[in-house]
Amino acid sequence: MKLLNSEQMQRADHRTIEEVGLPGAVLMENAGAGVTRILKNRCSQWRTKQILILAGGGNNGGDGFVIARRLLQSEAKVSLILFGKTAKLQGDALLHFNVFKNIGGSIREIDSPQQLSKIQSMAAHSCIVVDAVFGTGLIRPVSGVIAQSFAIINQLDIPVLAVDLPSGVCANSGRILGCALKARWTVTFGVEKIGHRIYPGAGLCGEIITVPIGIPDQFIDIEQHTVARNQLEDLTIPSRKSDGHKGSFGHLLIVAGGVGKEGAASLTAMGALRTGPGLVTVATPEPSRQIIASKLTEAMTIPLPVEGNQQDLATNWLNKILDSAIKPSAMAIGPGLGTQTNLNICVQALTLQWKDIPIVLDADALNLLAITGGEIQLVTQQRSAPLILTPHPGELARLLQLTVPEIQKDRLGIAVKTAKEWQIWLVLKGADTIIAAPDGRAWINDNGNSGLASGGSGDLLTGIIAGLLTQGWSPETGVRCGVWLHGAAADAAVVDGNSESGLLAQDLLPYIIKLQSDLMNG
Ligand SMILES: NC(=O)c1ccc[n+]([C@@H]2O[C@H](COP(=O)([O-])OP(=O)(O)OC[C@H]3O[C@@H](n4cnc5c(N)ncnc54)[C@H](OP(=O)(O)O)[C@@H]3O)[C@@H](O)[C@H]2O)c1
Repeated sequence: MKLLNSEQMQRADHRTIEEVGLPGAVLMENAGAGVTRILKNRCSQWRTKQILILAGGGNNGGDGFVIARRLLQSEAKVSLILFGKTAKLQGDALLHFNVFKNIGGSIREIDSPQQLSKIQSMAAHSCIVVDAVFGTGLIRPVSGVIAQSFAIINQLDIPVLAVDLPSGVCANSGRILGCALKARWTVTFGVEKIGHRIYPGAGLCGEIITVPIGIPDQFIDIEQHTVARNQLEDLTIPSRKSDGHKGSFGHLLIVAGGVGKEGAASLTAMGALRTGPGLVTVATPEPSRQIIASKLTEAMTIPLPVEGNQQDLATNWLNKILDSAIKPSAMAIGPGLGTQTNLNICVQALTLQWKDIPIVLDADALNLLAITGGEIQLVTQQRSAPLILTPHPGELARLLQLTVPEIQKDRLGIAVKTAKEWQIWLVLKGADTIIAAPDGRAWINDNGNSGLASGGSGDLLTGIIAGLLTQGWSPETGVRCGVWLHGAAADAAVVDGNSESGLLAQDLLPYIIKLQSDLMNG
């Protein structure tokens, strides 16, 4: 499902007005009608208790005037606050304000801190607050009396229904500009916006309900895909050859593990094995090999030497891998590997040795590349097959020499820019994992739950993605399905009665195989 930014949404609105001939005031009427319907459905006390509507000076406020009028006409008790002056209203918002006034509606203008106590008491006596202050037109941080009002309302335990977006959330990035209202429901129009699905904004939307307002689908369809939800309807899932043998489904080479990090390597291998590659081999430092082998019945292992001069470690590992393994179909490098001297050379050499197979780099492979600094572009220029990086925000921060808060402030923007500049597939992990493609497209994965926020979960994801790519899946299908499967497995585990807290990465394995079968059978 495509997610639009504010510019794309404005274009769809304008096309509807100009090309279809549906006036903006009618779109606004439809929007207000849709919100009113949802409000009546969600708030059982709407007939008997006060409803507080907060309006801004733009078209989002215009939607608020329609809602206020419709509720008034349904004999609800409505209070309407405008942040600003009625004299400044214009266009469709002014039209609907006048209609509201003409049926006997009244409005209170708020523009000074002295009026904050009034807002507090009005909100406290209301069963619901309708937030029609800012929608897609929010362009600068919320401040002053509006910000103070938001703080007051957020502190009161009153349900907020947001019109289009919770005010303060940026439609294009999910960033909070200044401060924002926290909604229990968000009713949006025609199509969801990017800000609905990216944290921190996504965490303030509550239930998101999309209502049609008359914008034809074709005006949404023609907008170029920049960002979409990671739903899999648009992907063709490769079918598994019924007469295949283990050679048909590829060989994955995993370079992972180390003393005290054996679990990382085995989870990567188990995640991969559960997606169906023909063979999996784990190359791992000698002292860890036996532990890993005892955990993995189906995988093979290659012991990597740790004795001798540490300066030679990278060369020794590289030689051992090249001597022991026939060319694999895909590789996963990094989980639990450590960041010892010179290992970055080994990681880089492997990505260049096998240029024409997909390689997933995670965890310490990323930390090792961060030591090298800025050479990923050089690596990708020399490769013909995709390079997939699966960092968490800390790892990406190290790679880009930024701080974690800087990454988290603009997850989508940074992921898209990095993937394009470096010509890689980037999976930026988080509650809203972002998948960014080298061509500038991005998907937001919003399944999964807090059970995934535990050690081993990322290793498993690396294995799942690498396992799918090993079987010849395209990078888009492999990466998007892998991320989706990981989240869906956590959701299925919880539906099955497991608690999110205490969910282990290995608990997800039975769900991965089950969900994969659902995927393949459509
Ligand atoms: N036909 C349509 O256009 C249509 C149809 C259905 C629904 N809608 C609704 O209209 C919304 C978009 O309307 P819009 O483009 O007018 O934008 P808006 O979301 O209503 O916001 C624009 C208004 O907010 C003010 N503003 C922006 N940031 C501010 C800040 N930080 N502090 C104080 N004021 C700020 C602007 O003032 P300044 O002028 O001073 O910058 C302007 O008055 C949608 O989200 C949707 O709810 C529109």
